Amino acid sequence: MEKHMLLFLLLLISSSLLHGYLGFAAGTDDGSEQWGYVEVRPKAHLFWWLYKSPNRVEDPSKPWPILLWLQGGPGSSGVAFGNFIEIGPLDGHLQPRNSTWLKKADLLFVDNPVGTGFSYVGDENLVVGTDEEAATDLTTLLKELFNGNKTLQKSALYIFAESYGGKFAATLGVSAIRAIEAGELKLQLGGVALGDSWISPEDFCFSWAPLLKELSRMDNKGLNESNSLALKIKQQLAAGKYEDAATTWRNSRDFYNFLLDTENDPIGGTTSEELKGSLGIDRYSKYLSTKKFSTADAGTQPVDLDKLMNGPIRKKLKIIPGNVTWGGQVGLIFPAMAGDFMKPRIDEVDELLAKGINVTIYNGQVGRVERIFKLGAFSLYCGNDDSTTKGFVTSYKNFFFYWILGSGHFVPAEQPCVSLQMMGNITGSPNYNSPHKRQK
Ligand SMILES: *[C@@H]1O[C@H](CO)[C@@H](O)[C@H](O)[C@H]1NC(C)=O
Ligand SMILES: *[C@@H]1O[C@H](CO)[C@@H](O)[C@H](O)[C@H]1NC(C)=O
Ligand SMILES: *[C@@H]1O[C@H](CO)[C@@H](O)[C@H](O)[C@H]1NC(C)=O
Ligand SMILES: *[C@@H]1O[C@H](CO)[C@@H](O)[C@H](O)[C@H]1NC(C)=O
Ligand SMILES: *[C@@H]1O[C@H](CO)[C@@H](O)[C@H](O)[C@H]1NC(C)=O
Ligand SMILES: *[C@@H]1O[C@H](CO)[C@@H](O)[C@H](O)[C@H]1NC(C)=O
Repeated sequence: MEKHMLLFLLLLISSSLLHGYLGFAAGTDDGSEQWGYVEVRPKAHLFWWLYKSPNRVEDPSKPWPILLWLQGGPGSSGVAFGNFIEIGPLDGHLQPRNSTWLKKADLLFVDNPVGTGFSYVGDENLVVGTDEEAATDLTTLLKELFNGNKTLQKSALYIFAESYGGKFAATLGVSAIRAIEAGELKLQLGGVALGDSWISPEDFCFSWAPLLKELSRMDNKGLNESNSLALKIKQQLAAGKYEDAATTWRNSRDFYNFLLDTENDPIGGTTSEELKGSLGIDRYSKYLSTKKFSTADAGTQPVDLDKLMNGPIRKKLKIIPGNVTWGGQVGLIFPAMAGDFMKPRIDEVDELLAKGINVTIYNGQVGRVERIFKLGAFSLYCGNDDSTTKGFVTSYKNFFFYWILGSGHFVPAEQPCVSLQMMGNITGSPNYNSPHKRQK
């Protein structure tokens, strides 16, 4: 373990700083990774990290996809959690991840909104208050990265998101498409994929309790309590009391992964007691910033993301300002966004669909499943296992729905094989091999 870390560090030390049009960017010598800051507003800096796939396939009929990953929270770091725990080339122990999504696309991680992860603000008042403000900042970042770069413009950008990131992704999708139409942003938007997303808080509040009850994870008393809270939230939302609704929601039950007991949760390691104690900061951020994460690759030790990001990763990146700590400003984000947290982003999804953008919803079996409509769907299998159904997919016009079995809130981490396959299909990756299908 130590040895690998040393080797890794040596490799990093040999990487050089690039001084391009991006002003404040750097990368590895071989050009396979680039990262940097974009000052999206004066004193507001978004950190991005782009990985180029070693498995790139040139296919004139299909552009090579770039996948932008947006984590949830708000305030959870995609550069850390999405990258090292879920889909990046290295896991939290800096060992190669078999199921990395880099196999089928280039990966762009952004610590969004400002104040998240390595992104920072020079003045606390500059954190965003709404999804739209975050989307405007992200659109500024995309302009900076894509407008001057013909190579990047040849790829199609697919925005993938998880949890609260779904609200960011839907809003960014709309903001990006408007900027493209106005001729201000030069990129091809391939599609938007929302994973266990928080796009309709009211609907979710009403769906959890009956589901838990059906799964024998809640009794009648719990069902009654939970439904009462859902009703209260509905009334608060109807009255425009968004912050109160967020408070009611935060006082409700733990739901992130009730399919598994906490001790068996592959990315858990935190207790519901710890979650209950978190006030003023969204539980999800708390969940993701807990000290221990095990990856889906069995047998590994829990990961301390804080140590990883503020240790070897920070050393590798070189450009993180001395007074910026990964996660140092996360506490500013939820309070600033409390008034927007419970607002739905369904209209944005409708607008994307109306504009012909492919929209995918992918959900774990128990992670914020809203309405599971009739799945006259195709069954999904993965790897060499053609006897175990791993999920279902169905579609209507440019709307796609994946239901991934045996997964909770963190789909790619909990079901890596079928998730990678799904992502290859959604992005139309030239490196996508249609899986073996069972013949009946
Ligand atoms: C770090 O210091 C620089 C220079 O003094 C300042 O401009 C910047 O806002 C500071 N950043 C943070 C996050 O405090
Ligand atoms: C921009 O394009 C060049 C090739 O023309 C490429 O080497 C470079 O990595 C691109 N910039 C970014 C940020 O990816
Ligand atoms: C949208 O989905 C359709 C159906 O799967 C696919 O043929 C098309 O290539 C997708 N468009 C993009 C830009 O990925
Ligand atoms: C909960 O139970 C009480 C007492 O039986 C009942 O009056 C109330 O309507 C129930 N609430 C919900 C939301 O079902
Ligand atoms: C990774 O993939 C290799 C080759 O496909 C396989 O032998 C190995 O068991 C995999 N490791 C994990 C942790 O899944
Ligand atoms: C790929 O997506 C299409 C919908 O565009 C679906 O019909 C097909 O079953 C999917 N295949 C797999 C293996 O996910």
